[in-house]
Amino acid sequence: MNLTTNQLEFDRLHIWHPYEVAEPVDSAIPIARAEGVHLIQPNGRELIDGMSSWWCAIHGYNHPTLNEAIHRQTQKMAHVMFGGFAHQPAIDLARTLLSIAPEGLRHIFFCDSGSIAVEVALKMALQYMQATGQPQRSRFMTIRHGYHGDSFGAMSVCDPDQGMHHLFARFLPVQVFADSPDCGFHEPWRPESFDPFRTLFARHQPELAAVILEPIIQGAGGMRFYHPKYLEEVRTLCSEHGVLLILDEIATGFGRTGTLFACEHAGIAPDIMCIGKALTGGYLSLAATLASETVADGICSGGRPLMHGPTFMANPLACAVAKASVDLLLNSNWKAKVKLIEKRLARGLAPARKLENVKDVRVLGAIGVMEMLEEAPLRAVQEYAIHKGVWLRPFGRLIYTMPPYICDEEQIDTIAGVMVELAQYLLTRQPDHE
Ligand SMILES: Cc1ncc(COP(=O)(O)O)c(C=O)c1O
Repeated sequence: MNLTTNQLEFDRLHIWHPYEVAEPVDSAIPIARAEGVHLIQPNGRELIDGMSSWWCAIHGYNHPTLNEAIHRQTQKMAHVMFGGFAHQPAIDLARTLLSIAPEGLRHIFFCDSGSIAVEVALKMALQYMQATGQPQRSRFMTIRHGYHGDSFGAMSVCDPDQGMHHLFARFLPVQVFADSPDCGFHEPWRPESFDPFRTLFARHQPELAAVILEPIIQGAGGMRFYHPKYLEEVRTLCSEHGVLLILDEIATGFGRTGTLFACEHAGIAPDIMCIGKALTGGYLSLAATLASETVADGICSGGRPLMHGPTFMANPLACAVAKASVDLLLNSNWKAKVKLIEKRLARGLAPARKLENVKDVRVLGAIGVMEMLEEAPLRAVQEYAIHKGVWLRPFGRLIYTMPPYICDEEQIDTIAGVMVELAQYLLTRQPDHE
């Protein structure tokens, strides 16, 4: 199907896009369909998707198994309220998720997006502290450069200064921020790198309900990979002082970092965990917040309910496709695929290290990052990559990829090659082209 110039102009003038002005100068890039690892433009041009539609489409697009799961569920029931009702798709999905979740997570709350999963996690922690007679524990601690979503509670634990939500800072509860870990994933562990967190935690712990972290990889706040030992130390501190640990696995879950959940790199489990994004393989919006027995029992002692209940909670279509997607992942050799992507990305991106406009190149699991010294011009980068047959969406100084796991070696090499070429192109490009 072709989008006419009129349709694109209507889109530009009336339909808001993520983090965009109401009437941008440039039209959005039209996309007609998607198949496997390819996004297909109306003119038939195929782009290798380097973004998995923001971490989601791990199996690629138009997957027959996932299509079939939705189709089958549509024949039975597209939606029914979850208040008071139970249904098979939710039960089947919950059973699978709880069986693969880190140890101790026994209860699951389905929500409709990652941000809301984070809201629910924060609410769980606050309700737990109130219900267990610790109402003074009402703040959250986290680390700078974090990103947990766009809703108000989630924004309060995003990076307060450099994050995309600093505009709203004065409307948000003030949380406790430690500096971002400075010991990288691949570096030898430097115990002193945990001292700033430990010191700040000691000062604030009596008022903390929970620590919330993106485990191992800080995504939209800077694509920073930190040492698993840091996470282990946080777990120990939280356990010692009765502070809950919330892990936001929304981006990292379902194999992206090389383990099913990123916290497995540290051999720890959270008290509360958020998942989303790749949960449905990129088909529908669904997320979930998982909690330990202790947390659930605490919140619900005396018959108190958890005060949340979205209209589309546990939507049967979303649950059915999520179950199919998780099964597809678990029955595949995802670990080997992610390892191979990691190897090819590391090799393919290595030449960028020598370029004078590149600050750092890092790879972990199926994620490759090229951190530039200066901001990467969004439109110019996209146009260049599209011209080369690849879809990338940089932000700030980061040009990065998290491709679908079904990419073959050649496709990964193409993505990495285009990223390196992009850095070279930006070296020579005149700024007045913007
Ligand atoms: C770590 C993390 N948490 C939460 C979110 C928010 O998820 P959603 O966009 O589904 O609300 C994101 C989205 O990028 C994320 O990366």
